[in-house]
Amino acid sequence: MSGTELAVLARELKARAELLDDDDWSALPDAHPAPSPNAALAALSAEVEACRRCPLGSQRLKAVFGVGSPSARVVFVGEGPGYEEDRRGEPFVGKAGQLLDKILAAVGLSRETVYIANIVKCHPMTDPTQPDLRGNDRPPTPEEAAACRSYLEAQLDLIKPRAVVALGSSAAKTLLDTTDGVARLRGRWHDFRGTPLLPTYHPAALLRDEALKRPVWDDMKELKRFLEEG
Ligand code: URA
Repeated sequence: MSGTELAVLARELKARAELLDDDDWSALPDAHPAPSPNAALAALSAEVEACRRCPLGSQRLKAVFGVGSPSARVVFVGEGPGYEEDRRGEPFVGKAGQLLDKILAAVGLSRETVYIANIVKCHPMTDPTQPDLRGNDRPPTPEEAAACRSYLEAQLDLIKPRAVVALGSSAAKTLLDTTDGVARLRGRWHDFRGTPLLPTYHPAALLRDEALKRPVWDDMKELKRFLEEG
């Protein structure tokens, strides 16, 4: 090898060594890229579509997986789909959902910037032989909530929100594994698997009792403060 050839080879080897020393590997193609939260959420949603872990899976019309941003800073968790949600396949689209949209807007949030899900993905009915009856809704049983729990946990693990808001007693009790109702639990932060959780009243409760608007407003101001803190 001539002296010139050796010099070229040395320059090439030096350039490669510098590339390997470089800390910024982000530009290099990854042979096994991790699935994006979006893709992983879509795969999980397909799993929920086929779920028969409890009887609700064969009674419902549409599974209601969740909606919103896969990188949401806050996830709102309700009780379970109702009549409207069962038909649309989307959470909180009935009267309570319209109120939830207003509550979100009041603190500068929206359906698109947060994530909304339920503790169960299928419509729990008081009388499953009457699927076309409006108001045929009930809270999920502890067995139904337990069967569905890993789906919500997987959603939260993918989204990695800074905060979770539990809407109503059913969601708060299930997530915090307590018999205390939302009236006792609200007004302070709790821990849900390492994520701060704030319980508040369910929007359907506000539709029945105007006096609950004030505490929900206080809870939403606390959420806003927490999110803005950094
Ligand atoms: N109530 C809930 O808890 N969840 C919904 O999706 C709709 C109403």
